[in-house]
Amino acid sequence: MKKIKVWDPFVRVFHWAVVAGFAMNALIDDPESKLHEWIGYAILAMVGLRLIWGLIGTRHARFADFPPSVSAAVGQMTDIATGRKRAHVGHSPLGGLMIYNLILSLLAICGTGYMMTTDTFFGIAWVEEAHEILVAWAEVSVVFHIAAAIAESRRLGINLPKSMVTGYKEMPPGAEM
Ligand code: HEM
Ligand code: HEM
Repeated sequence: MKKIKVWDPFVRVFHWAVVAGFAMNALIDDPESKLHEWIGYAILAMVGLRLIWGLIGTRHARFADFPPSVSAAVGQMTDIATGRKRAHVGHSPLGGLMIYNLILSLLAICGTGYMMTTDTFFGIAWVEEAHEILVAWAEVSVVFHIAAAIAESRRLGINLPKSMVTGYKEMPPGAEM
């Protein structure tokens, strides 16, 4: 096994804090409570910091390390279809697209959530509906995100969720990168 340091502490704390906050607001707390708003703002602050970290952070945390690319995503799908095991040290192309989707969805959820608290948009149906639809979209995305993390871990023989905890990816011997 070759151990490679991939995720710095900021990325890991960001990830699991967002998971906790998202689960609280989507599943547990009362959406009409102040707690819901404060957790939402905490998520917004974390995503804001992540955007800055994406520019100045460690190598694999930078957006430049996983630029959105349809052709690279098609390449990864071809690998999956043909059984070619090519591992990615940082985010894979498909994983990267999902991360942009999740980050943009979280921003839009927090934006519409904030709008509902303003005099201008309070009680306006489309804002509330947009908030609900965006949350539903993020929930479906998260299901795919988790399923993909498990499926890719099995396909490549690398425990990806564990790497988000320890910061290290353990590459199997002979892994193509
Ligand atoms: C228990 C559930 C979850 C597991 C096991 C999980 C697993 C992972 C893994 C393995 C990665 C790294 C992917 C890679 O290697 O490229 C990742 C990244 C990410 N996940 Fe999750 N995830 C979970 C839930 C969530 C939820 C609920 C959200 C947001 C609503 C989320 C948002 C993200 C984001 C934004 C990243 C990118 C991290 C960064 O670069 O800062 N995840 N997740
Ligand atoms: C990732 C962050 C968030 C998630 C997952 C989330 C999730 C939800 C959910 C599931 C609902 C219930 C929708 C329904 O009626 O079926 C809701 C409603 C609401 N959310 Fe959020 N939300 C988030 C962020 C925010 C933020 C940042 C604010 C405001 C600062 C906010 C304010 C509200 C308000 C005012 C409602 C309507 C409550 C009512 O029924 O009167 N949310 N949200």
